[in-house]
Amino acid sequence: MNKVYIGVSIDGYIADRNGGLKWLEQVPNPENESMGYEEFMSGIDALIMGRNTFETVLAFGVDWPYSKPVFVLSSTMQAVPTELNNCVFIVNGKLESIVDEIHSKGYRNLYIDGGRTIQSFLNEDLIDEITTSTIPILLGGGSPLFGDLTKHLEFKLASSTILLNQIVQSTYQRVR
Ligand SMILES: NC(=O)c1ccc[n+]([C@@H]2O[C@H](COP(=O)([O-])OP(=O)(O)OC[C@H]3O[C@@H](n4cnc5c(N)ncnc54)[C@H](OP(=O)(O)O)[C@@H]3O)[C@@H](O)[C@H]2O)c1
Repeated sequence: MNKVYIGVSIDGYIADRNGGLKWLEQVPNPENESMGYEEFMSGIDALIMGRNTFETVLAFGVDWPYSKPVFVLSSTMQAVPTELNNCVFIVNGKLESIVDEIHSKGYRNLYIDGGRTIQSFLNEDLIDEITTSTIPILLGGGSPLFGDLTKHLEFKLASSTILLNQIVQSTYQRVR
């Protein structure tokens, strides 16, 4: 299963024009209500993320936040920081082959992250589930979550909840 779990603006962006992500936390969460992320991550074996998303995470300047292996899609990156050598791996080539290779290592449930990465996976119909958390803001531009597709992809709504009275979190599963 290839799954997406992502915060998005009303107008469909995942980062603002400057790559900013502060708006993702604009809804106050004084009681630290769970947004379902930990539960989602507990069902994930590994992540595949685009280089831009990887670089954004690195730029947070915090301890490496993932306990699962991370495969970074990039045709330009030569190496990852030494301290991440055991948990971050650069991959490129055909997406289907990349996914097959990752499956062969025993990782079946994959978290697909990054706008262009998600779009490439969707273009090859390689996404099985999408969870979006819609933040009540219009960004007016930035990195779009979705792009053009060559065919319709039908999904069914598996669940939809309202978090913090403001954020609509919906999970869609691919109908095959
Ligand atoms: N709202 C959220 O929850 C959320 C979540 C994740 C990310 N973000 C934000 O979204 C932005 C990143 O999204 P993004 O759309 O710029 O890109 P991305 O998917 O993170 O990265 C794109 C890069 O991945 C590499 N790549 C290699 N093969 C690819 C393939 N088949 N398909 C797509 N990419 C491939 C390319 O790097 P090379 O040039 O090295 O080949 C490409 O430039 C960042 O600002 C990030 O912070 C937001």
